[in-house]
Amino acid sequence: MKNYWNKVEEIIKTHNLYHLKLDIQLPKESIQEVQTVYNEKFFVNHRGRKHKGWESTCLHGIDGMFFKTMSGKQYGYENDSDKNIRWCWTDVSNYSPKTTEFFKKDIPLKNYRRLRYMLLRPDGYILEHSDTPSGIPYTKRKETSIFSALNICITQPKNCVLEHLNNGIVPFKPLEVYLFNNDEYHHAYNKSDENRFHIIAHAEYDYDFAELFVKSFEKYYEHSN
Ligand SMILES: [Fe+2]
Repeated sequence: MKNYWNKVEEIIKTHNLYHLKLDIQLPKESIQEVQTVYNEKFFVNHRGRKHKGWESTCLHGIDGMFFKTMSGKQYGYENDSDKNIRWCWTDVSNYSPKTTEFFKKDIPLKNYRRLRYMLLRPDGYILEHSDTPSGIPYTKRKETSIFSALNICITQPKNCVLEHLNNGIVPFKPLEVYLFNNDEYHHAYNKSDENRFHIIAHAEYDYDFAELFVKSFEKYYEHSN
């Protein structure tokens, strides 16, 4: 049997990946489901000050609370890896059956931590930042940074981008699933008159994920760097 984790290691050692499109798609029902969640007013403001029009709600989160959209540290835990956190599916998952099924059955991820719908409203923006603990990208490149989060596109209005300072715009299309390196500087804006909905997922990667990573790299890499 091919050892896909060895192959993953080889790829991340030899390529500076900012993002990687995965060969899997969110179900089309997710577009309607996120709209229902929005209509039911589950979204809460996510971070203030440096961000405008940036809202979020958890499908899966701390204590199963949809409104606990921040990292564990904000709720008194060490970080999101703290063993004392009780991670659960929230009410929002009941309004998103097909999306939830995708995460439970279709994509090879396990032990979800925060799994959130993210909304960037018209005229909203997220200023340049890095999501490392220090807020500054690592000086020595960390190979595993590509695994920091999945960023999944549900809607992508025109004139709405997520962009790495040093690598340009991620070419999202609706229902596409990306690994996104959020350790490097990045920013986002929505200059359209429509809401932009994405999902950000934090989870552990199982062996089948390694296979998906390798096959996706072989299929899409030319678009990812
Ligand atoms: Fe970020």
